[in-house]
Amino acid sequence: MAIEDKIQELLNKRTEARLGGGLTRIDSQHSKGKFTARERIELLLDEGSFEEYDMFVTHRSHDFGMDKLHFLSDAVVTGHGTIDGRVVYVFSQDFTVFGGSLSETFSQKICKVMDQAMKVGAPVIGINDSGGARIQEGVRSLAGYAEIFQRNIMASGVIPQISAIFGPCAGGAVYSPALTDFILMSKDTSYMFVTGPKVTKTVTGETISTEDLGGSEVHSKKSGIAHFVSEDEREGILILRKLMSYLPQNNLEDPPITDCNDPIDRLDDLLNQIIPENPNKPYDVKDIIHTIVDNAEFLEVQCSYAQNIVIGFAKFDGMPVGIVANQPNYLAGVLDINSSRKAARFVRFCDAFNIPIITLVDVPGFLPGSSQEYGGIIIHGAKLMFAYGEATVPKITITLRKSYGGAHDVMSSKQLRGDINYAWPSAEIAVMGPAGAIEILAGKEIAGITNEEDKAKLIAQKEEEYRTKFANPYEAAKYGYIDDVIEPRNTRFRIIRALRILATKKDSNPPKKHSNIPL
Ligand code: HXC
Repeated sequence: MAIEDKIQELLNKRTEARLGGGLTRIDSQHSKGKFTARERIELLLDEGSFEEYDMFVTHRSHDFGMDKLHFLSDAVVTGHGTIDGRVVYVFSQDFTVFGGSLSETFSQKICKVMDQAMKVGAPVIGINDSGGARIQEGVRSLAGYAEIFQRNIMASGVIPQISAIFGPCAGGAVYSPALTDFILMSKDTSYMFVTGPKVTKTVTGETISTEDLGGSEVHSKKSGIAHFVSEDEREGILILRKLMSYLPQNNLEDPPITDCNDPIDRLDDLLNQIIPENPNKPYDVKDIIHTIVDNAEFLEVQCSYAQNIVIGFAKFDGMPVGIVANQPNYLAGVLDINSSRKAARFVRFCDAFNIPIITLVDVPGFLPGSSQEYGGIIIHGAKLMFAYGEATVPKITITLRKSYGGAHDVMSSKQLRGDINYAWPSAEIAVMGPAGAIEILAGKEIAGITNEEDKAKLIAQKEEEYRTKFANPYEAAKYGYIDDVIEPRNTRFRIIRALRILATKKDSNPPKKHSNIPL
């Protein structure tokens, strides 16, 4: 065969591979408001940067007439490219070929890019749209999944791993995304569950729809499994690109610093007024976050789940940080099971990838009650404490208002190796809030008063005494637990200066196989 013919043969094969399962199935994919596997990659990566691997791979199955059914690339598109010029490895499951189901060769393709990403030290983004295990391949498919799971586990904390769910993701297949750092789901077109509605009905008798069992609404609000939800795939891909802009390539590198056009010494007078005079009145901590970060840009993570704590990424003078903030606007910012778990995982992610943590504290304590105790708030609250105490990245804490009891210790306190702990003049750092303290200290005296007016007067007087003595930042500052009390409008500048000072921070934990975080 002449070389021209050989080149033509190559081009023909490429064209065939790019057609996936064929035009009819591509049309069907589009009719559901979904892109194809290759279209998603084109949208995700910098233009022209994608290099595809294993385009000519086909499955090796012979059963059920499969020997007569071959599609080039076998249901998953893999390779590497760049996002804002930085290398990233990708795999994108192709629903137009055998419903994106996982065969032995499909698994090998994914493992190849994961192995190379680990050697090179670059993130992996996986796009999931699959009917699960390739039924015709039986146990080889199960083994293929396990090969991927093992690699997810080894890569955890070494390279960022991100999963987008743009279609079905069911059965054991959900565990690969679950092992990654972030999960994004698209509204209406994606779902995740361990067992689908039919099996659920058979086993438990419960009748439930696909959406109600594992749609994006469920996983963003109830389970907290989805970190991001997008209106559609296009928006989802933009979120993935944005997320990448805060992350380093791997655990040995620092996150990327970008130019910043927002003045570092911008004074925000609004902040001097933002805390209500009445300590029981809520405010939105996100107003504070937006005011102090570069250009008001904050990528919130799990924004609809456990809203009593706010987590997400932002930049200060171009330096990426993770922000953890109690939210007085929701359940008074109390720490409970879900908010502790949510923040703990985020703190650990930031620590694993050298992202400094800024903690904004306004916490009245842990949520009391039998449902929290029975649910194990002790162990879940301990997760957050553990995460902060173990973290060696720069930790800057600003106490805005309340910081009471065990929750004070948990929220990046000095004794949990907080590097720089500031407080606003409105801070109240104490063992508990005035109402609870007065009840214990003067309960009998108060109970002895029969006149309701006198009783209320005494309570108010006792609370005021308590607040003056303990509920202020100076009691903690007196002992050096707070490094400085700062004017709220200077907060942005003080954080940036602290980040610069801490840029060369070195801290470590004792050598060990791994810690035993209270799971
Ligand atoms: C082989 C599959 C397949 C699978 C779908 N297809 N799932 N082929 N193995 N698991 C094929 C279909 O035969 C069809 O082929 C094409 O993909 C599209 O499927 P449709 O059913 O026509 O599409 P749709 O109506 O959109 O339904 C999508 C679906 C459904 C909900 C995903 O296909 C489905 O329920 N599939 C089976 C899901 C499942 O039970 N998987 C195993 C889970 S257990 P043609 O040729 O017609 O286009 C599991 C264990 C993993 O995954 C364990 C890991 C540890």
